[in-house]
Amino acid sequence: MTAFLLAHLSDPHLGPLPPARAVELLGKRAIGYINWQRKRHAVHRRDVLTKLVADLHAQHPDHIAITGDLVNIALPAEFAQAAAWLKTIGSPYDVSLVPGNHDAYALSTRRHFARAWSDYLQGDELIAAVGGFPYVRRRGPLALIGVSTAVPTAPFMATGYLGPAQRAALDKILERLADEPLCRVLLIHHPLHSAPGRWAARLRDSTELIEVIKRHGVEMVLHGHDHRHATVWFEGPRGRIPAIGVPSASASSGEHHHPAAYNLFSIEQSERGWHITQRVRGFSNEASPDTVTELRTAILRP
Ligand SMILES: [Fe+2]
Ligand SMILES: [Fe+2]
Repeated sequence: MTAFLLAHLSDPHLGPLPPARAVELLGKRAIGYINWQRKRHAVHRRDVLTKLVADLHAQHPDHIAITGDLVNIALPAEFAQAAAWLKTIGSPYDVSLVPGNHDAYALSTRRHFARAWSDYLQGDELIAAVGGFPYVRRRGPLALIGVSTAVPTAPFMATGYLGPAQRAALDKILERLADEPLCRVLLIHHPLHSAPGRWAARLRDSTELIEVIKRHGVEMVLHGHDHRHATVWFEGPRGRIPAIGVPSASASSGEHHHPAAYNLFSIEQSERGWHITQRVRGFSNEASPDTVTELRTAILRP
């Protein structure tokens, strides 16, 4: 059996911002708009994203996972722009998406992502859950389980929240999937563990989520949000579980984040369970943002 190749990218923060009416720039969006015009537009570059995606497509992955923050301040026009971009990444069958906090940035458009990107958020079967989450998509040997942590927050906050109903549904889903010979990959925008300095950007119910994961296990957790490479291990019922974070797919070099990169996971069933290798491809700090290279490889499950 040949290995299944899963690509993971996150946080494209697609620009440029479409023109906004004054009434759309009230409250939290006003701060986000100024922030974008002053700093973020120079960080999140379309040309960087385009080069990264071209390299990703050249690797011919079997499936692509995207863990949120497609838009910036959730203006209605940003969702259509992002839907058009999604089509360039792949078909809804080949691309699985979960939303990020920027996709639910404003109260008035907090449900827009569910409509605009519905095909990419659709599970194989309808599970009675919160707004369609969690979903389960079976692709090759994988069960991709997508959850939503995307909730509107107060200005200067970027926290995420699953809530008790979604966690209870996830508990049931993972219990059911544990009996099947599937490689379970949890897709989530926020990391399960945040550094103390990221308190205002943490997943609020991460302790409860980790309990669910520890009870039933998954083979891997993929997240975005911190715009940095991260590998954190959690104890599961059948060994350690890697939680892997990836930088923003559009980020040029910067002090507080890593330059754009994506991960390629080669997944194969072995006699001892799942064999998973991670290849990191992206722009190195030194290299010009013209060249995507292989930055490193890691064996996650021997
Ligand atoms: Fe982000
Ligand atoms: Fe985020």
